[in-house]
Amino acid sequence: MLTDAVASNWIAPLGPHVDAFEAEMCARIDVPYAVALSSGTAALHLALEVLGVGAGDEVWLSTLTFAATANAVRYVGATPVFIDSERASWNLDPALLADALEDAAYHDRLPRAVIAVDLYGQCADLEPIAAACRRHGVALIEDAAEALGATYRGRPAGSFGDLSILSFNGNKIITTSGGGMLLGRSKAHIDRARFLATQAREPARHYEHTTVGYNYRLSNLLAAVGRAQLADLDRRVEARRATNAYYRRGLGDLPGWSFMPEAAFGRATAWLTCATIDAAAFGADRDAVIDRLAAADIEARPVWKPMHLQPVFRAHRCLGGAVAEALFRDGICLPSGSNLTDADRARVVAAVHKTLP
Ligand SMILES: Cc1ncc(COP(=O)(O)O)c(C=O)c1O
Repeated sequence: MLTDAVASNWIAPLGPHVDAFEAEMCARIDVPYAVALSSGTAALHLALEVLGVGAGDEVWLSTLTFAATANAVRYVGATPVFIDSERASWNLDPALLADALEDAAYHDRLPRAVIAVDLYGQCADLEPIAAACRRHGVALIEDAAEALGATYRGRPAGSFGDLSILSFNGNKIITTSGGGMLLGRSKAHIDRARFLATQAREPARHYEHTTVGYNYRLSNLLAAVGRAQLADLDRRVEARRATNAYYRRGLGDLPGWSFMPEAAFGRATAWLTCATIDAAAFGADRDAVIDRLAAADIEARPVWKPMHLQPVFRAHRCLGGAVAEALFRDGICLPSGSNLTDADRARVVAAVHKTLP
């Protein structure tokens, strides 16, 4: 497909592979409309724009996420309010959200939108989250950047909410080097996003603009890459789950070592295999393990630092926060690439065992 894109000389933005990539993703996720974009961050930005979120509005979102989710809220001038995780999935706590929405409705301070993040390849508990949002007429955006290929009660990640977003950034389960997609059930939303992403050019012979637009479309060349990778998605999910199972077998019995749970409501991709390390029980803390792995030339990383602890967002409210803080303090992400061999996995397991006192 890539050679076709090059051979056809269709290197410019837009073209047949963009249309086909959107159609294939819609079929895969079972959502009627999609627009391919230059990044997942652009998709989040446009999701908020087409919902009309702006200055004076609050957007509530998971505190345990990558900064892109919160940054997009600031791009439109809205105020982020962070929400703690639940232990069962590490994702946005649905009970905390439901109570807080109830309270906000009582005080006439409802947010304009909620962004639920599907962390590390696992869906949030999306049914109660969507029900709470519906009850109060609050829009829901599903940030499925890390969860393409996962399911929630049999339905694909990225098919929930009024709008959802995907990322094809370099580290994601499928990648176009950089890219993203905005998906939704409203044609008007996706048409508006496509318009804004194409410099808000009005339909006229000359260049006519009545709105400030963006240069956010995905190129035809990168869409061709995305299509080839999408065709390989199932293999990648199985490879990542196999890595997860290997690590669980090799490390699951270590004292103080707990893997990110796979919640009963869905099937995770294990995009990244993550665990928490109880330093007292294990005899070494998370950073000591990361250092030990680094000495063996193995890259491991801490779990996301929650947004409410980030200096840039510290002024904003957070509902709860202790669960996300503990996950950050103790959490480690292990090497999880789709092409790891058993020898690679064995090396990681052996290196972790060597950190035992
Ligand atoms: C949860 C989450 N949301 C949004 C993004 C942004 O995607 P992108 O890097 O394609 O802009 C990422 C990852 O990069 C992410 O992990």
